[in-house]
Amino acid sequence: MTASLLHNTPFTLHVDPISGALGLSKAGDKYPLVIDFAAPAFQKHLHQALHQGDLLLKAVSPQTASSAFNLLDATAGLGYDGFLLAAKGHRMGYTVDLFEQHPVIYLLLQDALKRALEDPQLAPIAHNIQLSHQELTHYHGPYFKIIYLDPMFPKQAKSKSALSGKAMQYLDLLTQNPVSDERLVDFALHQATGKVILKRPKHAPIIFPEKRHATIVGKSHRFDIYSGVALNLA
Ligand SMILES: C[S@@+](CC[C@H](N)C(=O)[O-])C[C@H]1O[C@@H](n2cnc3c(N)ncnc32)[C@H](O)[C@@H]1O
Repeated sequence: MTASLLHNTPFTLHVDPISGALGLSKAGDKYPLVIDFAAPAFQKHLHQALHQGDLLLKAVSPQTASSAFNLLDATAGLGYDGFLLAAKGHRMGYTVDLFEQHPVIYLLLQDALKRALEDPQLAPIAHNIQLSHQELTHYHGPYFKIIYLDPMFPKQAKSKSALSGKAMQYLDLLTQNPVSDERLVDFALHQATGKVILKRPKHAPIIFPEKRHATIVGKSHRFDIYSGVALNLA
């Protein structure tokens, strides 16, 4: 199966004989790309984001204190933003769904979450995550209160993120957005009862400027915030 999933790419998938972790590599790699939520660099990012403030967490925080709700990270990628959101959700009482459309990225993420569930420190957060192999605009299901979108940036746009240079490079080589950013936002707006947050390169044009009601600007990217319309349709 993996041979056909990676057909026409420079990558192979394999399982580490000691850790059992699924990794993605290409010829000449010393180490494969493995998603590891226990990795010290990611743990440091998580700790700083949760304790010292983080723009993504600021952007998703609900405007009003509310009872339990659901948040969808519809472009999960390697799951680093999703895991941070799930850690916050675990403390605040919201659940996190992750959608990922690319089958290989989905498999890597599924494997990482399985290992996280076996780690006593990470398990409570991993339990707060529901992962689906799903392209957002093919979704037919219950609404979400908050939807976060982080589609691939155009190749030339650089952004600071939790992803290492190698992880970003592999994502760039392997995946592309299946639908336009406009279609993605439009669909999300009709699926969210609260708000939709779109991560964009800092200087990229605003999508649907008349519908955007706030922006949080970082060093290399920004979060555009929209009000969902799903409640109005319900
Ligand atoms: C920039 S990466 C996301 C990185 C992620 N925020 C993280 O922290 O690892 C974008 C990912 O979104 C996925 N994606 C793009 N469009 C999508 C869609 N319409 N539905 C589901 N996944 C999508 C891509 O396959 C890619 O893995």
